[in-house]
Amino acid sequence: MKNISKTERNKLKGHKGLAIWLTGLSGAGKSTIAVELEQQLFARKIHTYTLDGDILRTGLNKDLSFSEEGRRENIRRTGEVAKLFVDSGTVVIAAFISPFAGDRKIVRELLDEEFVEVFVNCPLEICEQRDVKGLYKKARKGELKNFTGIDSPYEKPEKPEITLHTHLQNVEECVQQILDYALPKIEWKK
Ligand code: ADX
Repeated sequence: MKNISKTERNKLKGHKGLAIWLTGLSGAGKSTIAVELEQQLFARKIHTYTLDGDILRTGLNKDLSFSEEGRRENIRRTGEVAKLFVDSGTVVIAAFISPFAGDRKIVRELLDEEFVEVFVNCPLEICEQRDVKGLYKKARKGELKNFTGIDSPYEKPEKPEITLHTHLQNVEECVQQILDYALPKIEWKK
């Protein structure tokens, strides 16, 4: 009896695993980029899976609030799940506000070389103008507490591997920037 090694999994899939972690304000474009990035990777026959805050918070993390503790646990659990996916040889895309630098650092340390931090940088004013879900309006009226950027902080990444400016670049350009960085990292050399 012998466990299947990571190398054997990589060989079967034809590429290595990686966690591509998108962080940024609500409405910055994380989910949109995640969807298009996954399409582009999938088209290249790469095994992928997307973990999205909006979705995980309806299932695995539905017991968690938007308090500092709730967000910390949200990111901790997601980091652990991302690690399992990476160990399986999958390219996992995570789209979470993940506002606290300390929480992102914990995930980085967990995944080490297999972690790519992507700062989806978009000015608060633009996210608020977009207000796709109408949540900024609610937060401004005080109907929604602890809203990131309004009455809860967002700590910008200091040294992200990639920074995207979604108010200046279109989705294709953003995705291409990630692909240029990520594809060489997941390449499996026989
Ligand atoms: S995180 O801060 O814990 O990383 P996560 O990415 O899971 O957040 O969820 C963010 C999404 O939850 C937002 O896009 C928004 O739709 C919704 N949301 C509801 N309440 C809040 C809040 N107080 N702050 C931020 N997002 C909220």
